[in-house]
Amino acid sequence: MKILSIESSCDETAAAVVENGRKILSSVVASQVEEHKLYGGVVPEIASRRHCEAINGVVTKALDDASLGLRELDAIAVTYAPGLIGALLVGVNFAKGLSMAAGLPLVPVHHLRSHIASNYIAHPDLEPPFLCLVVSGGHSHIVEVKDYTEMMVIGKTRDDAAGEAFDKAARTMGMPYPGGIHLDKVAEQGDPLSFTLPRPKVDGAPYDFSFSGLKTAVINLIHNAAQKGETLPVADLSASFRKAVVDSLTEKFISAADDLGYKKLVLAGGVSANSLLRRTIREECGKNGRLCYYPPLELCGDNGAMVGAQGYYEFLAGNIASMDLNARATMTIE
Ligand code: KG4
Ligand code: ZN
Repeated sequence: MKILSIESSCDETAAAVVENGRKILSSVVASQVEEHKLYGGVVPEIASRRHCEAINGVVTKALDDASLGLRELDAIAVTYAPGLIGALLVGVNFAKGLSMAAGLPLVPVHHLRSHIASNYIAHPDLEPPFLCLVVSGGHSHIVEVKDYTEMMVIGKTRDDAAGEAFDKAARTMGMPYPGGIHLDKVAEQGDPLSFTLPRPKVDGAPYDFSFSGLKTAVINLIHNAAQKGETLPVADLSASFRKAVVDSLTEKFISAADDLGYKKLVLAGGVSANSLLRRTIREECGKNGRLCYYPPLELCGDNGAMVGAQGYYEFLAGNIASMDLNARATMTIE
């Protein structure tokens, strides 16, 4: 079964053709990051406009690269939630138009479910049930993936998402948007023990995260030093911050896996590209005979292929949208 998939939830306009949820026939991503960089973050109005301009060319290229016409497809999948509402609407309306014109079923896909599904493309042997740490710019969840379309959130952030914390700390250190990837690189050269930073716990919720205190601690360190005319060693501060975030994610993820008896652990979302997080989870899994999965770097960020992967399983589960499908800025993964 061949699915054309469309993603426009944030600042990437993406489309792909995916076969049977596991094989990429084509994948095209048009990033707007260079433009948003000028403003230090995503400007929603600009994102919507750029999606409008890019989407036709991106979808056409995805079909051309797969050497397929609309008539050779079996369905169209589209990200409809959560994300920037104006951005999502571009993909949803484009997909609706194509679905109506070509007489193809329209499959609605939840953005975080699709991040999880990027692992199905990379790991042909991976099947639910497993425990997944979904960490992106907008979300940090520990999710029990009981089946391809049956999930339960057992832990989440009470404030900032991990990616958001990375980006804000990086921005305060003068790195360009999106700062997570820059901070990760700089941290490789630093000493993670040079600054003592908090590892917040959430009372009564052992699997929940909180990153705003940690983020504020770093920002205060930088501002206090600036007021005294001093500059802090950026590599050491980056390494200490990265370690604090990764320690917090790892401790809660591993203890949830132990408590609930999961032996298969999966990472997903933009922050799953973090090199320390990948190393640490792999090492933790190695200690106890757990299996560890994460996507290759090119599938960690937003892309169309992951939408096609999840779209396949949504289709099999009978999740077909009608023409009144609407975009939603927020929606639980469950
Ligand atoms: O999943 P994603 O591409 O978009 C959302 O759905 O939010 O995630 C983007 C987030 C950004 O906050 C970005 O800084 C972060 O993922 N990110 C990283 C790394 N690469 C991307 N954070 C830490 N380390 C990285 N290597
Ligand atoms: Zn994403």
